[in-house]
Amino acid sequence: MKDVLEELEKRRAQARMGGGQARIDAQHARGKLTARERLEILLDAGSFEEYDMFVEHRSSEFGTDKNRIPGDGVVTGWGTINGRMTYVYAKDFTVLGGSTSETHAQKICKIMDMAMQNGAPVIGLFDSGGARIQEGVAALAGFGEIFKRNVLASGVVPQISVIMGPCAGGDVYSPALTDFVFMVQGTSYMFITGPEVTRTVTHEDVTPEQLGGSKVHTTRSAVADGAYENDIICLEEIRRLYDFLPLNNRDAAPSWPVEDDPRREDLSLDTLVPDNDNKPYDMMELITKVIDEGDFFEIGEAFARNIITGFGRVEGSTVGFVANQPMALAGVLDSDASRKAARFVRFCDCFNIPIVTFVDVPGFMPGTAQEHGGIIKHGAKLLFAYAEATVPKVTVITRKAYGGAYDVMASKHMRADVNYAWPSAQIAVMGPKGAVEIIFRKEGPEAIPGRIQEYEERFLNPFVAASRGYIDDVIRPHSTRWRIARALRMLRNKQVAQIWKKHDNIPL
Ligand code: HXC
Repeated sequence: MKDVLEELEKRRAQARMGGGQARIDAQHARGKLTARERLEILLDAGSFEEYDMFVEHRSSEFGTDKNRIPGDGVVTGWGTINGRMTYVYAKDFTVLGGSTSETHAQKICKIMDMAMQNGAPVIGLFDSGGARIQEGVAALAGFGEIFKRNVLASGVVPQISVIMGPCAGGDVYSPALTDFVFMVQGTSYMFITGPEVTRTVTHEDVTPEQLGGSKVHTTRSAVADGAYENDIICLEEIRRLYDFLPLNNRDAAPSWPVEDDPRREDLSLDTLVPDNDNKPYDMMELITKVIDEGDFFEIGEAFARNIITGFGRVEGSTVGFVANQPMALAGVLDSDASRKAARFVRFCDCFNIPIVTFVDVPGFMPGTAQEHGGIIKHGAKLLFAYAEATVPKVTVITRKAYGGAYDVMASKHMRADVNYAWPSAQIAVMGPKGAVEIIFRKEGPEAIPGRIQEYEERFLNPFVAASRGYIDDVIRPHSTRWRIARALRMLRNKQVAQIWKKHDNIPL
């Protein structure tokens, strides 16, 4: 018995060394942790149970039979984050560049199948050179099996991808199919084809960072939802995000003990909206003053800053917040903002997370760039997402709610449950100047100022909408937290009968 125990320990120790000390040192020299070190930070101490540590690839092409390393470049298993279960896999760059072989993919598929069956999220840590080139179609088949499971798991369990090194070729599509993608600044990049091929095909000379670094993907492509300074901060933020998420689509959003009184009033909110309609103010201030202990996890912070999306808590339970941000582009809805918010709303709806929407929107962004870029389709995405969502929806209009954007931003007509407005709300087809110049054009320029005043008095208030029941109540800003908490309590057992359909056809 002693011999076999020693043999077991020897094999385990060998597997834990991955590609060997020299490659581990090289990983550290680049400011990156190893796959196992990352899992130690991500998971609660001592909670990780590893599977398939002794799996080796079966290929023998190009001498690969002489390079079989136990684990085959990915560490898989399950553990807990603050006591709540999660399945994990971490690609090990020290083993053949973390590349994806047939067996490597089978290890990932095994834990994805368990996650779907047993109802817990999957977190993947990426650091990989893509398909194991020596394996040819076997590696591609492995990718295909992972992609298929990403799709089948979508809306069943939350899936999170963390890019902590290269993520190239076939490896990019699995993250793209998951709910959230996060990156590490400076050490991670994602692209389908790298700088070399790019140079040959399009004659562009770019570095990996310029082609697919965290800045590009968090600010321009929106492939990634956030980026953090280094591996440790990134993994700690993933733990923080995890605390907001339900385990699966049958689970309620998690609820944590909280000291913050739901009746807490904040008098400073009574003066948040400036007297001058065209002056911006920070919508983030409203969010952080309304949620428990100001604890907000923002999604997509660096992209389409004219809309804020993220998670907070009210009475200890997770709430998804969507809010126009007057500090950026006056809070206008453009294609990027519509796409960003639509995706967030759909995530919340998949996973039973109530949605609170704060509205201050002057309308949809005009111009050829937006029209030619498809704002009609992109704006429709947000409209679609809100209208199809059956989770509790509470809306507060703080100031402007103009035109189509009024309809889209979780209005009563989009099946929002409770619609509040602050006394400063202005619910109208458009702003006064534009409106008057159209409807009173024939009266000449001298009539315009008087007509603007008339329009403002008539329409720029919440009471016309309230008189029709489109606004349920006009509330005092300082009571917003308590009114939202009460609305969410009232909606706790919300159920919606759905007309049968196979699935909808959101305008992609
Ligand atoms: C096999 C690979 C590999 C791969 C890296 N390695 N990528 N082995 N298949 N895809 C191996 C290297 O040979 C090397 O082994 C070790 O990993 C470390 O790689 P280096 O190149 O030394 O490291 P670095 O300089 O940091 O560069 C990392 C890299 C580069 C940028 C990821 O390795 C690279 O460009 N790899 C190929 C990326 C790529 O084109 N992938 C696409 C594959 S096709 P030794 O033993 O020398 O240390 C694909 C299509 C699928 O994925 C489509 C499905 C839809």
